Amino acid sequence: MSLLAAGTVVEVTHPLVRHKLGLLRDESTPTQLFRQLVDELTLLLTYEATKDMATEEVVVRTPLEETTVERISGKKVAVCPILRAGIGMLDGVLSLISGARVGFIGLYRDEESLEPVEYYVKLPQDIASRDVLLLDPMLATGHSTAYATRLVKEAGAASVRLIALIAAPEGVRHMQDEHPDVSIVVAAIDRQLNERGYIMPGLGDAGDRLFGTK
Ligand code: URA
Repeated sequence: MSLLAAGTVVEVTHPLVRHKLGLLRDESTPTQLFRQLVDELTLLLTYEATKDMATEEVVVRTPLEETTVERISGKKVAVCPILRAGIGMLDGVLSLISGARVGFIGLYRDEESLEPVEYYVKLPQDIASRDVLLLDPMLATGHSTAYATRLVKEAGAASVRLIALIAAPEGVRHMQDEHPDVSIVVAAIDRQLNERGYIMPGLGDAGDRLFGTK
């Protein structure tokens, strides 16, 4: 799949995205609605992230006559959510690309160093013949995302693209420094990180809000 130009950062400003993101940020949004909004937003971002997938022409027969239609061609897709919050974005992608294989990357952030620590990685065996959509709702420092990107590249991924809900400028810069070839599709780039590594204004801890934990 030839997606967006390598290294592009796309902030999707569609009114539906802005509306849903506003609801997502609201601390009074309950878990069930939060999950649904993440699903819907991911679907909209996936639409943008795949907008230049290559197609090929094939001939089909309508009930009336033969006609030429387009089908997605070329390489296949692997979707790789970064655990645990990335899981909340998985169905949104799969609802559009049902044939995608799924890989899981389990990383947590050390609360003091803010550095990623790997605890579970399971990637599709044929990832080398697939384009990877990496899912990470919050691109904060960018360290976990850059680490996960390195993992899928080392496994041979044909290309890597990141879909995130909210990014901090620091995270975008870190990704651009470490992986200038990776495009980022995001619903909003927020103001900054705070001293605890949270995106401001952000939406809080995406995993806790998705899964109702604290
Ligand atoms: N992870 C989150 O869930 N939220 C942030 O604001 C930053 C990282």
